[in-house]
Amino acid sequence: MRISVFGCGYLGAVHAACMASLGHEVVGVDVVEEQVASLAAGRPPFHEPGLEQLLGEALATGRLEFTTDASRAADAVVHFICVGTPQKKNENAADMSYVRAATETIVGLLKPGDVVVGKSTVPVGTAEVIAERIEEREPAAELLWNPEFLREGHAVEDTLRPDRLVYGIRQGDGGARAARVLDGVYAAALAAGVPKVETDLATAQLVKVAANSFLATKISFINAMAELCEATGADVTQLADAIGYDARIGRKFLNAGVGFGGGCLPKDIRAFMARAGELGVDQALTFLREVDSINLRRRVRMVDLAREVCGGSIAGRRIAVLGAAFKPHSDDIRDSPALSVAAQMQLQGAQVTVTDPRAIDNARKKWPDLSYADTVEDAVRDTEVVLLLTEWPEYVGLDPVALKEQVAVGRIIDGRNCLDPATWRAAGWTYRALGRP
Ligand code: UGA
Repeated sequence: MRISVFGCGYLGAVHAACMASLGHEVVGVDVVEEQVASLAAGRPPFHEPGLEQLLGEALATGRLEFTTDASRAADAVVHFICVGTPQKKNENAADMSYVRAATETIVGLLKPGDVVVGKSTVPVGTAEVIAERIEEREPAAELLWNPEFLREGHAVEDTLRPDRLVYGIRQGDGGARAARVLDGVYAAALAAGVPKVETDLATAQLVKVAANSFLATKISFINAMAELCEATGADVTQLADAIGYDARIGRKFLNAGVGFGGGCLPKDIRAFMARAGELGVDQALTFLREVDSINLRRRVRMVDLAREVCGGSIAGRRIAVLGAAFKPHSDDIRDSPALSVAAQMQLQGAQVTVTDPRAIDNARKKWPDLSYADTVEDAVRDTEVVLLLTEWPEYVGLDPVALKEQVAVGRIIDGRNCLDPATWRAAGWTYRALGRP
């Protein structure tokens, strides 16, 4: 099938490469020339495990191209909207300008029978507006809403083997026919038994933000429990294990620590609240304000903890921060809790050195005032406190005995509850964590 993908960021680049690897002919369109050049040369502009290889293989088949020239998408029959919807400056709402621009470009290309498929995370009601616009320009084309649930760091496997497919379909023959076209695109996943949920457009748009809101709530729930644990001397990791055995609760996404960041959960819950306000049902989502503030409070608490272990002040203290990415296996630093904590400590006068296996270049661009080191050894040398804020496997697996030799004072703050306190204490470290005695 001939497919176009508009927007070649985290979502679109992976989607385009995966669809080509399944045998489709794919043209990825983006307005950022460097992004397109880099992808066309087989170099993903961001770190995503498995993507470089997949991209190389797909480009070699000749079935995948990247371009800034949207007219290359004119012979595609399925057009995916994969552009970003970042948070607006100084507002909770999402910036819809990229979605609007992509829609205008696509409607200019439509032929009878074409299917436009929305994958971007949007405020509910957006799809209906796009559908009207399509109807005006090409009544024999159709819109489906097909939200994406991929996680950064697992984007390739999540795209090739999603845990579910959701189709938002308009009533009528056009919608039903378009859904069968999309079945053709996802034939491999459907044949492998991936469940499919067919809904109306509104439900499909809501499924995405509801899922992210639930995940954010789960993380903030356990972080709220961490606050209770801190006040009572209890251990939040044991609490999470114990409640997680209840299959109705489940252990996943109950890792307490410095909280959630990234380009999705924080901005999605805020955009969802803003949309609920517009719809006159803001009360339904006021709990998300609390979810957001519990999350941001963890970052403040992390800085407090650093101050506490330093005896009341971090001014002039040498501090190492392990991790800059918002989570492991990614070089994405958008709303990264690790960098937010590092920057706050720097503002309070500490000498902070940050290291990360992948995200240093991005971090340096955004936070040029922080110091960076390429290796853990260089970052921790002669420091008085080490903060582990992104649980990269290489940090989780650090040898506390060897590391102790390099620091001035052995104090570790485990911001992700991913180290074994007993092992670190046995190696002579002062071990502290959020929500753990
Ligand atoms: C999230 C969702 O998990 C995806 O399903 C969704 O498709 C995606 O947003 C999106 O909207 O595009 P992602 O932002 O890649 O994916 O990251 P997550 O794995 O959800 O992690 C988000 C943050 O929560 C990270 O900072 C992570 O460290 C933190 N987290 C996660 C915790 O603090 N505790 C946990 O138990 C789990």
